[in-house]
Amino acid sequence: MKNRWYKDAVVYQIYPRSFCDSNGDGIGDIKGITSKIEYLKDLGINAVWLSPVYKSPNKDNGYDISDYRDIMDEFGTLDDFKEMLEKFHKNGIKVIMDLVVNHTSDQHKWFQESKKSKDNPYRDYYIWRKGRGKDGKKPPNNWTSRFMGPAWEYDEASGEFYMHLFAKGQPDLNWNNPKVRQEVADICNYWFEMGVDGFRCDVLTYISKPDDLPDGKFNLGLIGDEHFTIGPNYHKYIKELNEKSWSKYDSFIVAEAIGTGLKDAVALTDENNKELDSLFHFDLANVDAILQFIPKKVDLVKFKKIINDRQNLPATTWNSNYYENHDQPRSLPRLADGGDLMEAGKMLAVSLLMIKGTPFIYQGEELGMTNCAFKKEEMIDVMATQIMGMFHKISPLLDNWAYKVMLKRARDHARTPMQWNGSENGGFTTGKPWMVVNPNYTEINAEKEQSDENSLLNFYKKVIHFKLGNEIAINGNYIEYLKKNKNLFVFERRLENKSLFVICNFKNKDIKFALPEEINYKNCELKISNNKDAGKLESCVLKPYETRIYELEY
Ligand code: GLC
Ligand code: CA
Repeated sequence: MKNRWYKDAVVYQIYPRSFCDSNGDGIGDIKGITSKIEYLKDLGINAVWLSPVYKSPNKDNGYDISDYRDIMDEFGTLDDFKEMLEKFHKNGIKVIMDLVVNHTSDQHKWFQESKKSKDNPYRDYYIWRKGRGKDGKKPPNNWTSRFMGPAWEYDEASGEFYMHLFAKGQPDLNWNNPKVRQEVADICNYWFEMGVDGFRCDVLTYISKPDDLPDGKFNLGLIGDEHFTIGPNYHKYIKELNEKSWSKYDSFIVAEAIGTGLKDAVALTDENNKELDSLFHFDLANVDAILQFIPKKVDLVKFKKIINDRQNLPATTWNSNYYENHDQPRSLPRLADGGDLMEAGKMLAVSLLMIKGTPFIYQGEELGMTNCAFKKEEMIDVMATQIMGMFHKISPLLDNWAYKVMLKRARDHARTPMQWNGSENGGFTTGKPWMVVNPNYTEINAEKEQSDENSLLNFYKKVIHFKLGNEIAINGNYIEYLKKNKNLFVFERRLENKSLFVICNFKNKDIKFALPEEINYKNCELKISNNKDAGKLESCVLKPYETRIYELEY
């Protein structure tokens, strides 16, 4: 097991568009981020992941890149970026960029060229095919876009279709073309040379498609996954990229691994394979949904099993743990059980930070920012609008149902502007925010929580401070207790004769805790709890959402 810096990191994800607006145009920007480095340092995190800041026409808020080597106009300039990077580094905070290379924007010059003619040198940078049917107007295969509808767009001029697994403004790159792979390595090296410390790789498991592009099977409402999730040349291409770029720097490479399971995790991240350092799986993201979209109550036993399975992967792999990101609704209320959500937030913080792996906190999670009661027209994300639009086409009678589903699942919930203080727009902007601010900013905001000793924010600081540099928290083995208990999440992290013993009451009611018989400690010290009356480790009744971390010596 190698010791690398990211194993002792707490990463904070910034969604730049919604973080802090420095110039009053209603859109978060780089200078805004720079102005909040003090806040992040005070929070105690030691790495950030920035959602894309590259040039983009923003069909998918930066996940459609038109120039990989420059900064989006709305966010500022490359000089602003360099200044921010330097300030982060001065404050001991590493910077991880988002690498979106399954697709580009249709405004990228490669695609603009590619579209010009069939013999353009860039034609083969993308996936073009003749259509089917007599007139060739039927898509080349039955694959669907992850945002619904066919994964193909017809181009009148050349009479061919191009593939887009996301929006039609996001054409898929053709990784079978060695030139494309070289471009990707060059892009990574460009940012590494500037000083960035790693990449979160967007939908990386989709990059390799079979040449013959066979029809796919219907799966959870989408078609084609079995052909392009860890496709035929995936490992070859990633090994190559690792060799040409990632391995040359002391970097952290974590990939979004949609559609992959437990076994895949080893193949994708085992350190002996020289591919990725870590991945984000989706098993927990879907724990409160049927078919990804239909909301259901969290089953804690299942929830714990998902964590347990991942925690028990071979020591040559490394977990990245998250509850929230820019694609998921807020964990409050998703993973809570009603009642005092701030206390629920504290309990969730302990569970997320104390399991083994690198924890990722999403902006506002440390404040307990919640989902928003959007009106229909306030959900403006491409996913929500395309899905609601599709159901409307099937029948306007489905409008209300689709709206209600989106009210639980839309990505917009995570993207409402950061709530800095109680002034207008939560202090995010002095102008008109690009999307609605959650009206609960008057109650939930950073300024208010800074000055409240018992706030969620101050609790996060304690847990982060406790975790970083703590050998047991970094390397301790994970042992789960009370697996079948439907209310409590109880685990231990063991390192030689010491351990951290963690208790989390996931329920909004008093719950009995029975100390497992095998726990016979010599010494015990309570390190952190949201119950000021918590005593030493023994059988007891836990308060709603109570959480405790003990250090034990055997
Ligand atoms: C990833 C991103 C998401 C984006 C999609 C297409 O899932 O996290 O925000 O829409 O890829 O790039
Ligand atoms: Ca701005």
